[in-house]
This record gives sequence, C-alpha cells and structure tokens, in this order.
Amino acid sequence: MPTPCVELRHVSLHYHSDGKPVHALEDVSLTVEQGEFVSIAGPSGCGKTTILKLVSGLMPATRGQVLIDGQVVSGPQKRVGMAFQNPSLLPWRSALGNVLLPLEVVQPHRAQFNTQRKAYEEEARRLLHIVGLDGFADKPPYQLSGGMQQRVALCRALIHQPEILLLDEPFAALDAFTREELWGVLQELWTARRCTVIMVTHDLREAVFLSNHVYVMSKRPGTIVHQQIIDLPRPRTLADTFEPRFVEYVRQIYDKIGEVRQ
Ligand SMILES: Nc1ncnc2c1ncn2[C@@H]1O[C@H](COP(=O)(O)OP(=O)(O)O)[C@@H](O)[C@H]1O
Ligand SMILES: [Mg+2]
Repeated sequence: MPTPCVELRHVSLHYHSDGKPVHALEDVSLTVEQGEFVSIAGPSGCGKTTILKLVSGLMPATRGQVLIDGQVVSGPQKRVGMAFQNPSLLPWRSALGNVLLPLEVVQPHRAQFNTQRKAYEEEARRLLHIVGLDGFADKPPYQLSGGMQQRVALCRALIHQPEILLLDEPFAALDAFTREELWGVLQELWTARRCTVIMVTHDLREAVFLSNHVYVMSKRPGTIVHQQIIDLPRPRTLADTFEPRFVEYVRQIYDKIGEVRQ
C-alpha cells in the first residue's frame, strides 16, 4: 500500500472560547490517497472547516494525529494551497497580480521572484487560461464577476504548485448556474495538475460531481458516519448529473445526512 497523502488518525479537537471548551471533532479518521478528490459534507458547525485547519497545520489536534505523506503535521504547511467561499482578492491588484501573490510570500519562490518573474507570469497566465480567463489577466477584481473572481482565487491557490488543495465551500456564495459552471473548471484544473483535493461543501450534487470519495459527518462533535466511493467515469458533465447512477449516489448520501440529523 502506498503512503496516503493525507491521513487523520483518531483526531479529536476541543476549542476554548471564553473559558468553555467546545468539542468540535471526536475521533475522526480518514485517508486521502495521492491525487484523489475527496469531499467532506455535513451539517453546519460539525467541524468541516476545523478539519481543513488541522490539515493545513494552522492548529494542532487535541488528540490523535494528522499526517501528510506519512509525516506528522506540526506547523503551517507550504505543501498546501487554500481557497474559501469568499475569494478575497486584493482590490488594487490585477487578476494576474493576485494569482502571483503567494509566490511573493512563500519560499523558495519569494527569494527568486524578481529573477524568475517572467516564468512565474507565464505559469499564472497558463492557469488563467485553463479557467477561461484569457484576456482578463490585467483587470482589477471589481471588473470581474463573482464567478470570475473565484476562478482567480483557484489559480492563486495553485500557483505555488501545492501537493494538496484545500477548498472550503468554494462556490457557496455563487448562483446555481455559475456554481455548476465552476464544477467543470475545477475538474479541469484538478485533471491538469493532479494534486490531491479536499473540498468541504454543503452541496451534495457538487460533492458527487467532483469527488472520488465523499465523507459524511455527524453534527457536533463531528465524526465520520458514512463514506461513499463515487465510481463514475470522468470527465463528468452536467448532463451526467441527471443520469440514474448519479442521482442514486446523491440520494444515498442525502439519506445518511438525514439519519444523522435525527
Ligand atoms: N476559534 C474557535 N473558537 C471556539 N469555537 C470554535 C472556533 N472555531 C470553530 N468553533 C466551533 O467549532 C465547531 C465547528 O466549527 P467549524 O469547523 O467551523 O464547522 P463547519 O465548518 O462544519 O461549519 C462550531 O460549533 C464552531 O462554532
Ligand atoms: Mg465551515
């Protein structure tokens, strides 16, 4: 068996707010293989974002272990790229300038940013091309729609070639049409980069469309109550979402979430 890319072993997490402990996660174990696309679905407040914070090394687990490539995570990880519901682009920078930002911050890119700038820009333009933003590289965020801004945020999360991409409800703020369009964009990015993706989402169709593997969590303290392998051919299209096998996967996961909300 190859070493999993990401592994949580019996992870529990307690926050402390105003002196009171908040028991966010209880005995969460999950394994993500190299190059997989995994989604985590579950009710609001069940600890999904907390899992992403643990994988990125922003905080330690209270109990249990988080491992990347078999090594225990003990601090912030450069191997990780992140994108959130809010694209939070710098308003005074162009789309291209926003995509390049991590390279100006993260070593070893930071040290060579000025000498390598041309190559970095080419790479940023390549990513903008994959997400359909040719011709928008020089536009400031206010001239881009919400969906376009989120495309820029995805490029920014991938520019330093992270091994792992963490996505926290990346399309939740978008209208349904734009969201579904971006499923295809994300699938294409993942196919081009073959990084490992962990995505948190409320949207079960989104989870089934994009993932190899969907984990369902219980309400707080969150734990994994169901795992579903999605064995559908790729690339997947929006037409596939109306096929019986697709609908059946969504229904199975929906039923599981219904059970844990009882
Ligand atoms: N920094 C924090 N301090 C105290 N409690 C927190 C903190 N962050 C999250 N929580 C609580 O932990 C639980 C899980 O949070 P979170 O991982 O953000 O849930 P989800 O992303 O599934 O909605 C929630 O009840 C939330 O209120
Ligand atoms: Mg969250």
